[in-house]
Amino acid sequence: MDAWSELQARLARVENPWIAQLLSDILLPREAKLRIWPAAVTVHHAYPGGLLDHILKVGETCEALAAAYGVDRDLLFAGAVLHDIAKLDELTTGESTAYSRDGNLIGHVTLGVLIVRESTTRLDGFPEDLRARLEHLIVSHHGSRQLGSPVEPMTIEALILSAADDLDAKIDQVRRHVADDEGEGEFTAFHPRLRRAFLKPGVR
Ligand SMILES: [Fe+2]
Ligand SMILES: [Fe+2]
Repeated sequence: MDAWSELQARLARVENPWIAQLLSDILLPREAKLRIWPAAVTVHHAYPGGLLDHILKVGETCEALAAAYGVDRDLLFAGAVLHDIAKLDELTTGESTAYSRDGNLIGHVTLGVLIVRESTTRLDGFPEDLRARLEHLIVSHHGSRQLGSPVEPMTIEALILSAADDLDAKIDQVRRHVADDEGEGEFTAFHPRLRRAFLKPGVR
């Protein structure tokens, strides 16, 4: 199953009708871009389709953690799917990936809230409480002000989403660093962003 079909299969399991409607409203017009977009210029999932891979993995982790902690699975899944959706506007891609004008001036955290607000306003009767909880997931997903979130996670769903997002970004960086390492030794070269070397699996 390709990544887009996997996303559709997951969307079909959403029970809350407002969340199902909102996700279709936001995702369907963006299908062509979402199939090919990277998640970053360089840091993590920086390859065609990387954004969708990242969204699916964060969604999968969030579903498992929602069950483990007994929190709102549909809300958390919506946050996972939408948290980086504005990377479609933040980044331009083609020969290479770069920040767009809006990406530099506004950034995907704020652009993402604008997308959610625009869609919930258009869906007549969308519950205010749900709108606020979902927007909170978007604005707080970087986990701290220092890392670019204007507010820090204030709900369990937001704590889970920011942790799952950070974990998936780190795991992708480690895997790529290990795969790209050309040294003979047991450990990789120092990773400047993660500030350590990593043990290479299978090397003794
Ligand atoms: Fe993000
Ligand atoms: Fe992310």
